Amino acid sequence: MGKRVALLTGGGDCPGLNAVIRAVTRRSLDRGYEVVGAREGWRGLVEGRFQPLDDRTISGILPRGGTILGTTRTNPYKEEGGVDRVLMNLAAEGLDALVAVGGEDTLGVASRLHEEHGFPVVGVPKTIDNDLSATDYTFGFDTAVTIATEAIDRLHTTAESHNRVMVVEVMGRHTGWIAVMSGMAGGADVILIPEHPITIEEACADIERRHARGKDFSIVVVSEGYELTYASGETQQIAQEPAATDQFGHVRLGGVGHVLATEIESRTGFETRVTVLGHVQRGGTPTPRDRILATRYGLQAADLVHEERWGTMAALRGDDIVAVPLREAVAELKTVPPAFYEAAKTFFG
Ligand code: F6P
Repeated sequence: MGKRVALLTGGGDCPGLNAVIRAVTRRSLDRGYEVVGAREGWRGLVEGRFQPLDDRTISGILPRGGTILGTTRTNPYKEEGGVDRVLMNLAAEGLDALVAVGGEDTLGVASRLHEEHGFPVVGVPKTIDNDLSATDYTFGFDTAVTIATEAIDRLHTTAESHNRVMVVEVMGRHTGWIAVMSGMAGGADVILIPEHPITIEEACADIERRHARGKDFSIVVVSEGYELTYASGETQQIAQEPAATDQFGHVRLGGVGHVLATEIESRTGFETRVTVLGHVQRGGTPTPRDRILATRYGLQAADLVHEERWGTMAALRGDDIVAVPLREAVAELKTVPPAFYEAAKTFFG
């Protein structure tokens, strides 16, 4: 029997979302199914706002960044009557299935709705942060790392010309995947990440050792979630003001690069500048790798809908796209393994 399938993109946008929308839609239309997009993440399900997805809507969107459906960080569990309205709109729209494309927050809602209400949902893992368990990589991450690496390459030449320390702040929330990968690819001299916090004193010693070897400039990559850590044991997380949290309880990180630069300059005496890459890491066209990964995830999600394997998520294991329980994907954050960070540290200083 033909199905009516809805699709939503939730949380922070990232390159590759449109590639998923295209793949889910194309495969589902080929099966004779109807496809609709929920506007702006879970908000579309709460408010009952949908748009049809057909061959024309998905034409030409593969290389486009962002999401044609819009996105928000709406959490139905935090809205008055939100979950009831989601269930009501699912029925009112005559929907048989939902494909939820998102990170730990969006998929956390999907997993909970499935477990508590038998909601017919499958997930697709998205985030530039790459912090979702149960999959080797999320799409969007490769593009963010590519953008950050290019920035580091560019900062090298200006750092060298001026004999400066350049601090580059990258995103990643509470994990250092973007920092460690772009830092390694770009040949950073120090990388600071939340999972394995080296102290400010150690970072400065690395920079001074490098200068003692005759290298008068340094590149320092810091992840936005790195807590300033001192040899005394004192730590400090830097967040943006006002320190309000979103509906998923996240503070807005950002700003650690500036504090770190002040510390480096005052402790080493080396002139220091800061670049905060911010949302540039999320904008623009996806890399070929992300386009392909997002497409493969989308096709898998459409197949999971066809097979009615609710409560599962498309995931990458090695080179294979497989299905894993949504519950596993959101159980805990996937952090940078110690061995990976140790490899990066070989090149510090
Ligand atoms: O989760 C993706 C991400 O870009 C994080 O790296 C960052 O901390 C956050 O989203 C920024 O969120 P917003 O787009 O709401 O400023």
